[in-house]
Amino acid sequence: QKINWYPGHMNKAKNQIEERLSLVDVVIEVLDARVPESSRNPVVAKLTENKPKVIVLNKSDLADPKLTKRWKNHYENETTVVVSLDSKHNSKLPELLKAIKQASAAKIEKLTQKGVVNPIIRAICVGIPNCGKSTILNRLVGKNVAVVGNKPGVTKNQNWLKVNQQIELLDTPGILWPKFEDPKVGMKLAAIGSIKETVFQFDDVALFLLDYLHAFYPKQLDKYLNTIEFDDNLPDLLMSMTQKFGFREDYDRYSYHFIQQVRKLKLGQFTFDFLTEVDHENDN
Ligand code: G4P
Repeated sequence: QKINWYPGHMNKAKNQIEERLSLVDVVIEVLDARVPESSRNPVVAKLTENKPKVIVLNKSDLADPKLTKRWKNHYENETTVVVSLDSKHNSKLPELLKAIKQASAAKIEKLTQKGVVNPIIRAICVGIPNCGKSTILNRLVGKNVAVVGNKPGVTKNQNWLKVNQQIELLDTPGILWPKFEDPKVGMKLAAIGSIKETVFQFDDVALFLLDYLHAFYPKQLDKYLNTIEFDDNLPDLLMSMTQKFGFREDYDRYSYHFIQQVRKLKLGQFTFDFLTEVDHENDN
């Protein structure tokens, strides 16, 4: 379902998120490992600056493993623990639980010193649409769907779900709006499927992917192109691919197919955000 983030809507969302963040001890910020920065909501990054946080680099099965490691190191600091996950196929649940515990260690210690027996840590999952918040929530809560119940401070219709003896999770993830000011970020989000493709032209997204792969993952692209030759004219290349792969003159339908091929790992694992130019030069 498409969300139009016009400013009024955005302000309301910001206030709601702010209110919900104030209820929790730890924020689980879910990013898409293929586009960690582009899938990061700047307002939330700011709001949670000094809050204990677990950053989940989710869908790491689809991302370039070397860059996922680099991003992990980049985000890690005193208040932020980072885990990379493939929450669809392999939950790596113990690692995530460990990260939540680690991020809340100071809070647990404080409560224990105050004499609280078995302190409870409260958390919320936040992230832009489609980054995997619900999948992670389901993994965390599993069969313990037992609702802990409404408690003071929680808006009506929100409940705490029990993850284990120590952790409770707000039952509705915080949906954040994606960055959309920078057209290049928009293109990356469309390429990975975070923004409905209908907002974009398929051929624009396909050309963006070709350009990116040509620049940063040339070996993988060459392998996929096999015998198709091209000079640096990418629209011509896309047309040759359309014909070669049996789509006749249907540029648009092939563009859609190519985007799907990239998403389904037919060309390899790619990350579309990198830390420095050097990252890619060294890796390829
Ligand atoms: P959201 O709540 O943040 O909006 O995201 P949600 O959990 O609904 O996940 C969105 C899509 O991403 C789902 O696919 C889900 O299966 C997939 N997904 C979540 N985590 C991972 C991951 O770590 N790796 C991979 N490869 N995929 C992940 P879908 O298209 O809705 O369904 P399906 O194609 O999985 O059946």
